[in-house]
Amino acid sequence: MLKETTDQPPTKGILLSGGSGTRLYPMTLAVSKQLLPVYDKPMIYYPLTTLILAGIRDIMIITTPDDQAQFQRLLGTGEQFGVTFTYRVQPKPEGIAQAFHIAEDWINGAPCALILGDNLIFADGLRHMLRDATQRSHGATVFAYQVRDPERYGVVAFDEAGRALDIIEKPVTPPSQWAVTGLYFYDGRVCDFARRVRPSDRGELEITDLNRIYLEEGTLEVDRLARGCAWLDAGTPDSLMQAGTFVQAIQSRQGLLVGSPTEAAYRMGFISHAQLLETGTRMKKTPLGQMLLYVAAESGPVVV
Ligand code: TTP
Repeated sequence: MLKETTDQPPTKGILLSGGSGTRLYPMTLAVSKQLLPVYDKPMIYYPLTTLILAGIRDIMIITTPDDQAQFQRLLGTGEQFGVTFTYRVQPKPEGIAQAFHIAEDWINGAPCALILGDNLIFADGLRHMLRDATQRSHGATVFAYQVRDPERYGVVAFDEAGRALDIIEKPVTPPSQWAVTGLYFYDGRVCDFARRVRPSDRGELEITDLNRIYLEEGTLEVDRLARGCAWLDAGTPDSLMQAGTFVQAIQSRQGLLVGSPTEAAYRMGFISHAQLLETGTRMKKTPLGQMLLYVAAESGPVVV
């Protein structure tokens, strides 16, 4: 299991799964976007797996009021993954940074990661990158990914030495191709900083404005995801399809599971071999269950 090197409390994690999903209408009229399938798993399994690989065991799931019961039905208390889930609602989608208002009493001054419920990140050495981010006791870490359509995202401007100079939300003329992904790590001051963020012109508390507070303080680390990593936000019909195809290709070609919180929890030492076997057996009629049983047969927990 990951160990914190400082005396700070363990990092908490927020899985932000509200929003209106208008770009996926009519699929999201009756079902939350983050519960839609990405190949063989509900979308939220993928960001949940990322938080587990970061060594995070205390996780808040923020949903719309209408969708909360379905998330609870799917994910329960967290016991099956060796973590604890706390559920809260966001009454209206008033911005990603609002998560830190909603969760402030629960965060209680601890460092906190936030991941968007529709963000899928696959990277070689991801666990090490996540560990570095959780071990930074001061400041914030975000991840940047080179994209073809930066104007849709928060975009990083770098100086000649490769240091981040600015982050601009949905720029008309992007200063680079580097978009900020939906995975953020903050130190224990995040809720204080979030209170300083004012609604933008579109009426949202922008995560980019929160990140800029750290940037201006000189404590924002921007880690660039290397070529070969994949970051997908499954928010449109095309990206949802691409994400599913991507997962299917890796799983069937390489025989490796992608986005399984059960496997991640086992490898992190959060659940026992018996729990892994139990989940695999419960789902043994599915390729996912069979892959979990294969993991159970071949290895003991890997301690990182
Ligand atoms: P978006 O994709 O920006 O918004 P959305 O999910 O409502 O979809 P659409 O644009 O199609 O209407 O949101 C990115 C992620 O952040 C997504 O997982 C939903 C989440 N989110 C919230 O939970 N609350 C919010 O206030 C916002 C803005 C986003």
